[in-house]
Amino acid sequence: MQCPHIKVTVVDISAHRISQWNSEKLPIYEPGLDDIVKKRRNVNLFFSTNIEEAIQEADLIFISVNTPTKTFGVGKGRAADLMYVENCARTIAQVSTSDKIVVEKSTVPVRAAESILKILSANHKPNVKFQVLSNPEFLSEGVAVENLLNADRVLIGHEETADGLWAFKELSKVYLNWIPEEKILRTNTWSSELTKLGANAFLAQRISSINSLSVMCEVTGADVSEVAKGIGLDSRIGPKFLQASVGFGGSCFQKDLLNLVYICECLNIPQVAVYWQQVLDMNDYQKSRFSNKIIESLFNTVTGKRITMFGFAFKKDTGDTRESPAIHVAKTLLDEGANLNIYDPKVEPEQIKKDLTHPYVTDNPENVIKSIEIHNDPYTAADSTHAIVICTEWDEFVNLDYEKIYERMIKPAFIFDGRKILNHEVLATIGFQVHTIGKR
Ligand code: UDX
Repeated sequence: MQCPHIKVTVVDISAHRISQWNSEKLPIYEPGLDDIVKKRRNVNLFFSTNIEEAIQEADLIFISVNTPTKTFGVGKGRAADLMYVENCARTIAQVSTSDKIVVEKSTVPVRAAESILKILSANHKPNVKFQVLSNPEFLSEGVAVENLLNADRVLIGHEETADGLWAFKELSKVYLNWIPEEKILRTNTWSSELTKLGANAFLAQRISSINSLSVMCEVTGADVSEVAKGIGLDSRIGPKFLQASVGFGGSCFQKDLLNLVYICECLNIPQVAVYWQQVLDMNDYQKSRFSNKIIESLFNTVTGKRITMFGFAFKKDTGDTRESPAIHVAKTLLDEGANLNIYDPKVEPEQIKKDLTHPYVTDNPENVIKSIEIHNDPYTAADSTHAIVICTEWDEFVNLDYEKIYERMIKPAFIFDGRKILNHEVLATIGFQVHTIGKR
């Protein structure tokens, strides 16, 4: 959109993915993205599975593959798995016939740029030179296009050599088409990589900090919304990311924190590892607390009861469910023998089934499938259920007709607002038993 003079080719080994990107229905939902893709596709934006050709043609190559948490071997459950990044680097080295600037976009642990460069240098063809830059992604899902157009900053880390500086300037030229120069931050590759992990750790820490206070509020009678407002008005602290909730989810925070903790342990600084681990522990505690509150309030048993879940995505305006707190809540309720009616405006039913039958969640997938119903209407989802549990802060949940919903439910009808988005006084007047986070 901002660079009509640049040809961008997006390649993926999955032919299915690429065909989705070339179709009417894109594989992900992101506000504003459809419009951009439809305007630029086959003009200067191409989606292809011909990886070799795309590498050969390119001057700049962005590596944007996933770096999941390792599920086996050393660092299992915590270290980032760099297998896909490494494979990319090897392919680039193999096929390139001209000089390339390789940009590391995936969130990868500190020193990954160095590993990529080692692989490239050890395998390159004669007369082909590589420069590796670190250019971490700070997009939030749901507002990714907006974040991209109005980025707070663009961080580019480069090798501290003349060629490194040249590569930095080449990548800057791309961003300068829409980002003012003072927002482009130049660092060494190590700083750039650690900044990405650090920024996510700080954001997650704010949520865990306010969630820790939400626990105190529930015990003492303070109201966490009032407390958060008072804290956030301090200009040194600021108001953002202080919304107490059922806990944070998403593909980044947990993964990056686990990775940060693991790196600290490898660097033999256990004190720092424990410090950041606590942010994760607080999040697990918050998710469990909320689930347990539902069970306790429903007279200590949910066995055989039907409960409605509003929202399954890890936050609003996305269909992404990775590390969604809704999975934790659903698992706890299913383990206790509850039946669930689930409604989310953007998450595909197949995805919900996949998440809830995953081996981490259950060892009895057939039983889970029997216990859940996925609805495409919030009113039918609430029919003859004992409780509504709000797990995602979708705007549409605020304006539902709760009188109509109340009539359809079994009494006493409960609402557990895990996102603090509803008007609790109005709900109580209708007759609901209302429970929320950070308020007695
Ligand atoms: C995050 C970072 O914000 C982004 O910079 C990075 O590039 C990727 O990771 P994302 O995972 O898309 O982005 O979502 P984000 O908006 O940060 O929210 C993460 C989680 O925290 C969500 O589950 C959200 O609901 C929760 N959250 C956020 C709260 O519970 N309270 C808040 O005040 C803010």
